[in-house]
Parts: sequence; structure tokens; C-alpha cells
Amino acid sequence: MGKTVICPGSFDPVTLGHLDIITRASKLFDHVIVAVLTNLAKKPSFTIEERIELLKKATKGIDNVEIVGFTGLLAEYAKERNATAVVKGLRAVSDFEYEFQQCLINKKLNPNLETVFLTTSQENMYLSSSIVKQVASLGGDISTFVPSCIHGEILKRLSQGEMKDEG
Ligand code: PNS
Repeated sequence: MGKTVICPGSFDPVTLGHLDIITRASKLFDHVIVAVLTNLAKKPSFTIEERIELLKKATKGIDNVEIVGFTGLLAEYAKERNATAVVKGLRAVSDFEYEFQQCLINKKLNPNLETVFLTTSQENMYLSSSIVKQVASLGGDISTFVPSCIHGEILKRLSQGEMKDEG
């Protein structure tokens, strides 16, 4: 099957910044697993199922991308799927410390797992899921922040307010 990598994240919701990294990873590697994982430090606005659905629509047409949800450790999942590396986007120096820590923890838990960082495209430097949610909740335009095919769906969902229990 060639080289499999994992693009992990909360994707709450997926932004154009995420899509840029996923698309570029799909050109570098044979198979890209986009894994919607749990970040215990964050309280999500979208359920895992909603996030997976949005990602599937956003990545439709990229043949070697697979979207999955997983509630355990990334290092374990990578072992299960025979993934050689984790691919993450780096926006600014401020991302580095956090990403470096995660990279070292994942390597400790799974010594065969490398982490590859792709530098974000300049136009996405400022972009994050929490910025998207903040701007949308205050009535701002998020059409240049999220993929156009899911823009309406994200707006509608955010206007409905907090989700029920993740369950
Ligand atoms: O998009 P995020 O929130 O920055 O992604 C962080 C994520 C989900 C990749 C990270 O929290 C993660 O890997 N969670 C899975 C649980 C895990 O393996 N934790 C140990 C590594 S910190």
C-alpha cells in the first residue's frame, strides 16, 4: 500500500488551513488517514460524527484520503494502522512548543512513529477552528475560513448553539 501517514486533530470544525495541510500531505504520501481524535484540553462544539461528516465532504475528490474517528491514543492508533508518520501543520512559533511536546510523547509511546511538520500556507497563518467559531458566533463572515461546500452547514450548526452530550 506504500507509505501511510496520519493527520490528527480535533477538526472542530475543519478549516481551509486543515484542508491545505491534508491536500499537501496527500501529494507527498500514498495514503493519508485524517483522524478525528479527542483533545481532553478542549470542549468540542461539534460531535465526532458531525466533524467526520464535514471532513468527508471537504475532502471529497482526494482519492487517497480516509476519514476516521478514534477515541484512544494517537500513538496506539498509528501502530494499529501501520502508519509511519504523523503529519501536522505549523502556523507560527507559538504552535511549536505544544506540537514539539506532543511529538516527543508520541515517539515515547511508539518509538517507530515520526512526526512531519508542514509549514502553513501564508494565507492561513491566522486561521484556527476557535477563530472560525468566534467570528461566526458574533455574526462575522467565515466564507474565506472554511471550505465553501460546507460553509452553510457550519453556519447553520453554529447558530443552533451548543451540542448535546458527546455520548
Ligand atoms: O487539533 P488539535 O486539538 O490541536 O489536535 C490535538 C490532538 C487531537 C491531535 C491530540 O490531542 C491527540 O493526539 N489526542 C489523542 C490522545 C493522545 O494521543 N494524547 C497524547 C498525545 S498529546
